[in-house]
Amino acid sequence: MHETKSDVYNGLPADMLQSSRSVMGNYGTRGLCMQRGEGVYLYDVQGRRYLDFTAGIAVCVLGHAHPQITATLVEQAGTLIHCSNLYENTQQNRLATRLAELSGLDKAFFCNSGTEANEAAIKLARRYAYLKGQQNRTKIVSLPRAFHGRTLGSLSITPKAAYQEGYQPLLPGCDWASTLTETLEHIDKDTAACFVEVVQGEGGVHSLEVDFLRAIENRCHEAGALLVVDEVQTGVGRTGSFFAFERVGLHPDVVTMAKGLANGVPVGAVLARQEVADAFTPGSHGSTFGGNPLAMAVANTVVDIVAQPTFLEHVREVGDYLSTKLQSLGDEVSGIGLMQGMTVPDAKSFVAKAAEHGVLLTAVGNTRVRFVPPLIVQSQHVDELAQILAQ
Ligand SMILES: Cc1ncc(COP(=O)(O)O)c(C=O)c1O
Repeated sequence: MHETKSDVYNGLPADMLQSSRSVMGNYGTRGLCMQRGEGVYLYDVQGRRYLDFTAGIAVCVLGHAHPQITATLVEQAGTLIHCSNLYENTQQNRLATRLAELSGLDKAFFCNSGTEANEAAIKLARRYAYLKGQQNRTKIVSLPRAFHGRTLGSLSITPKAAYQEGYQPLLPGCDWASTLTETLEHIDKDTAACFVEVVQGEGGVHSLEVDFLRAIENRCHEAGALLVVDEVQTGVGRTGSFFAFERVGLHPDVVTMAKGLANGVPVGAVLARQEVADAFTPGSHGSTFGGNPLAMAVANTVVDIVAQPTFLEHVREVGDYLSTKLQSLGDEVSGIGLMQGMTVPDAKSFVAKAAEHGVLLTAVGNTRVRFVPPLIVQSQHVDELAQILAQ
């Protein structure tokens, strides 16, 4: 049952409190209700303005109510929203080609979220091994502090006890070490794939060492396992290159994406090199909504804007500025581009205080605060953030 104290709900209207009791409690108590957005700002139902350094949890890369996104949505909604994967889809084909060019991989499969993309990548890795006659190669290795999603497969490679509690038995064959270096020993002849994030977002915004990531890649090659880079949070320009793996020089076999790809319209994608992609033969996997014309049209608009070199340069510049500002204000600042984290004594109360002062942030764990603004954020917004945090 939700709390109904007016201080918790910041004076939200009684009918809203009443109706919120019909929503399941997995998100806990939510004290604010947003009504509209504009650029890097959100406005709540009482008209209060917030500087948004959450971007819907690293989703709204172009901010809120971006005119080109709105125009694309309106145009595509008036043309064709959905027709299923029974038919060719020009928007889907265009996006697949573009993502292949940008990633250096060959083919795309589209779904509707990050967890679905990782779920599909787990299936793809196992099926690839199976079709090669390597039926024992079923193990999926992930890293300590990893986060790959909430469906049973993705949850099984997300080694966080609190998220897994009560859902056992999980997917068999999922394996992780307790330390990063020990991970290398877990990748062996029975490993179908190892999943990595270049910056572990939900794990506390920790950038992994380039040497470590390269060692994982080498170990995967030696063992004949696939390297899957989860770019659900880091992809679509977040770190200042279209994909974070470019910044650290990795060569993944498979990449998963979601979040920023359609600026808030649900979408997910799996990219793979030809030989691996070919394991998804007709009927072997699917999604009713996945890759529908509406999501694909918006994603094409997002990619057209974000993949421009000047846009990515902007992300790197403002990202460096944000990182420098945060370092002057707090401890253990880590991240790449516009994906930064900072250590504070109590993340939950820090985030609540920031919201009271008009800045939206997210807590990741008990002591880490995450900064993932829309990528259109400007240095003056960083100054505004810094001024408030300094208080
Ligand atoms: C790296 C990573 N992978 C997967 C997911 C799951 O994505 P979704 O919530 O869209 O299922 C997330 C979500 O935070 C993520 O950060």
